[in-house]
Amino acid sequence: LTNKALLKTVSTLGLMLTFATTAHAEITARMGTSLPDAHPQTLGAKKFAQLVEERSDGEITVKVFSNGILGNDVNMTSMLQSGTLDFTVPSTATLSSLNPDFNIVSLPFQFDDSAHADAVLDGEAGRALLASLDDKQLVALEYWENGFRHMTNSRRPIETLEDIEGLKIRTMQNALYIDLFNGLGANAVPMSVNELFTAMETRTVDGQENPYTVIDAKRFFEVQKYLSRTAHAYDALVLVASAGFMESLDEAQRQLVREAAREATLYQREQSRALNEELLSALEKKMAVNVVADSERQRMREALAPVIQQHTQALDADVVTQFQTAL
Ligand code: PAF
Repeated sequence: LTNKALLKTVSTLGLMLTFATTAHAEITARMGTSLPDAHPQTLGAKKFAQLVEERSDGEITVKVFSNGILGNDVNMTSMLQSGTLDFTVPSTATLSSLNPDFNIVSLPFQFDDSAHADAVLDGEAGRALLASLDDKQLVALEYWENGFRHMTNSRRPIETLEDIEGLKIRTMQNALYIDLFNGLGANAVPMSVNELFTAMETRTVDGQENPYTVIDAKRFFEVQKYLSRTAHAYDALVLVASAGFMESLDEAQRQLVREAAREATLYQREQSRALNEELLSALEKKMAVNVVADSERQRMREALAPVIQQHTQALDADVVTQFQTAL
């Protein structure tokens, strides 16, 4: 080989090597959330993205699109199934359209506190529900927290069950939630959270129900006067991956994603709990906040007994037994 030819071969090899490294480094996943950057759903998503990138030495990048810019939870979950999005974090209430058994998580007045919810969801009962999405082109990785849901409205404080009578309350697009609010005497109006601010501003609905973190992040305090601490249901989110994306990874990468998901879960829950506590005092300065007595919450629970029974009977009997044993 002449010097010139040698130089050419070396530089070609170098170029090939660069291409090989670059090709390996080019996994970019897209992740969509429905809530703003300050909400623990998106904080958790960013933490997950950071952990995946760090642990893969930059080989896998996760780009987070927050605040519903890619669509609502229902759309984004379908995008995962069709392979046009890689990760999202819908409520279990949204996932009930794929497997109605997810409604077991949303049944009202069943968890004492977040630690109680963690124990049930991280245990066998919760894991079995996650695995039920395996045949739906989805890989459900972990439960994150949205939190205990409370009612807000623009008309009156809710101190008794009767105060709910006739209020137009937006609910998630979920049959259980619709029946729950109708069962409490409200007129349930299902719609996506993305349309909710305007619906309350224009008085199309009187109110809604969500954890403090959502009420704050979506600035509902600007269009709602009363916040009544009903804590009527606990809402879990689920970190879900598209099956197509997970299959495109090699085993080590899949493991890395699972470990990052677990670590991000602990961070996400911590953020959610700290913020829910902190934000209550912030919201007290912006809205008329009232505690709902436990005796009234008990009356609400009793009024909902037929709805709870009807929806429980509609679920898989084994799932119900496993879940109720874990409670
Ligand atoms: O009210 C809703 O739609 C839900 O609480 C949430 C988390 C904002 C969207 O899934």
